[in-house]
Amino acid sequence: MPTEKLSYNSKAYSLFRPNAPPKVIDVILKYLEENIPKDQWNIFVDVGCGNGQGLKQLSRHFKQCYGFDISEGQIKEAQNENVLNNVVYDVCPAETLPAIKDKSVQLLTAFTAAHYFDRPKFFKETDRVLVENGVVAFVGYYIPVPNDPISKDKALPDLMSSIANNPELVKHENPLMTPIKTHYRDLKFPDNYEYCHKDNIAFTFPAHAQDLIGYIQTWSFFQAFLEDNKTAAETLLKNFERDLKKVLKTDDLNSYEITLTFNYFIGMGRKKSD
Ligand SMILES: C[S@@+](CC[C@H](N)C(=O)[O-])C[C@H]1O[C@@H](n2cnc3c(N)ncnc32)[C@H](O)[C@@H]1O
Repeated sequence: MPTEKLSYNSKAYSLFRPNAPPKVIDVILKYLEENIPKDQWNIFVDVGCGNGQGLKQLSRHFKQCYGFDISEGQIKEAQNENVLNNVVYDVCPAETLPAIKDKSVQLLTAFTAAHYFDRPKFFKETDRVLVENGVVAFVGYYIPVPNDPISKDKALPDLMSSIANNPELVKHENPLMTPIKTHYRDLKFPDNYEYCHKDNIAFTFPAHAQDLIGYIQTWSFFQAFLEDNKTAAETLLKNFERDLKKVLKTDDLNSYEITLTFNYFIGMGRKKSD
């Protein structure tokens, strides 16, 4: 699997919330181009846009772009950082897009956000705003797979998988996250959409072993476990750290280099009729 040449400090590819890799963007644009030529790419909307990470990557392909999110904080950050003339950010739910005219949008995306939406309501709105053959793309990824470039064996990925599937931890998962675990295969599109699913679009970059410990602490289900049973959650993390040192045969996790592979998936639908 090729490793993209990226530095540890690259802001764009921050460890825990990476930008979607160019391969993902290419898959979406190729799918769109199958039925709508590039010179007709006028309006692009990114819903659940957060601080605009996904939107920025696609904006140069469209005349006018909109980023909407229900979080005022995220939108404020996106607006403050915005330097693009063709991009507008606003606080707005994905399910109701009053700023967008009927049958005007060629592409509508949601990067790691679609599992939060009221999808029946959302698809009513996409029916309204999309042109014929307009595309809705849901992009996601789950927990990345760490690898040890020295041993190259399965001990490290197995250790990560065992903590992610720890029964006590899993009890604290938000059910809204289930579609992410099934790679959005269960997020059904209505019958008037031609459906396409792409999986295992791998994106690998370097990290340090210690980053895994920081990463686990960002999981919302780890935070919920911590709140529910602090001692048990802390013990789980301590045991992970102990086992990590054993597996990598080092006490210096801060300088031990590993790789992280995010496997992206995309659920895409092309509107064939209203
Ligand atoms: C995991 S973040 C992803 C943010 C961004 N798309 C990215 O890839 O960095 C999910 C975002 O969806 C937003 N969100 C959740 N439900 C929403 C809804 N119904 N309508 C619009 N945004 C929503 C949240 O506020 C959050 O910013």
